[in-house]
Amino acid sequence: VSGVAIITGGARGIGAACGRWLASDGLAIGIVDLDPSAAGDTVAAVRAQGVGVCAAEADVGDAASMEDAVARVAAELGAPTVLVNNAGITRPGAVHKLDPDDWALVNRIVLQGAFHATRAVAPYFREADGAARRVINIASVAGTFGAPASSAYAAAKAGIVGFTRSLAFEWARFGVTVNAVAPGFIETDMTAGFPAQARERIVARVPLGRVGTPDDVAAAVAFFASAASGYITGQVLEVHGGLADVAGATA
Ligand SMILES: NC(=O)c1ccc[n+]([C@@H]2O[C@H](COP(=O)([O-])OP(=O)(O)OC[C@H]3O[C@@H](n4cnc5c(N)ncnc54)[C@H](O)[C@@H]3O)[C@@H](O)[C@H]2O)c1
Repeated sequence: VSGVAIITGGARGIGAACGRWLASDGLAIGIVDLDPSAAGDTVAAVRAQGVGVCAAEADVGDAASMEDAVARVAAELGAPTVLVNNAGITRPGAVHKLDPDDWALVNRIVLQGAFHATRAVAPYFREADGAARRVINIASVAGTFGAPASSAYAAAKAGIVGFTRSLAFEWARFGVTVNAVAPGFIETDMTAGFPAQARERIVARVPLGRVGTPDDVAAAVAFFASAASGYITGQVLEVHGGLADVAGATA
């Protein structure tokens, strides 16, 4: 495939794995991250695949910052054809204790962030020229099942599913497919702070018997970015080793 993928939060974790997978499929990679200084290894890995790469600093929660970052990637690598809305954070806390500022921050980055990034690529994606374009949103099993002490995160991730299905309708006439990948417990910086006991409890609930890796998620993202998924839109693919619920989990 040729084209340019923009990956928000692509400096680390799941976003970095998406960069490596999409690069190996031939896409140039525009990493957009609050902290692009963490993207060094990913940039080198992508470059080693022989495709273009750049890392732009931006805050997905800020519309102007995202517009600017997309313009910078487009100027450096060409018009974007794939958007992976991956940047996300979580703030744990039971509803009655959660600071309203934390609730707002999670929503600002997860939900509004996906909106701002998608809006920023709209001028490039809303083109009825027959080119295959893709939006892939990273949701979470927390959004599907709910998760204790994670209401802000679960609500924002459930919102991502509604956003995915709505955008799938809106952009279908431009040939853009819009899908979501909903990971379970994946080993990244986000989950590194989990107490060992909580982690063991989660693994015990995973029929496949292990936590997930960023590559497990990136493989599903690569499928949605590929020509093979061209007739699939508005879907949510869960990548969680068979997990039936996330009670006790906060990822
Ligand atoms: N790790 C898991 O178990 C898990 C499970 C389900 C869903 N997810 C989702 O997968 C996505 C990636 O998670 P991860 O585990 O790789 O996290 P991570 O913390 O390892 O990486 C997140 C990246 O996003 C960037 N980022 C944070 N805020 C940003 C902002 N405002 N603007 C731009 N970039 C920003 C960070 O700098 C970082 O590089 C998130 O949406 C997360 O909610 C993760």
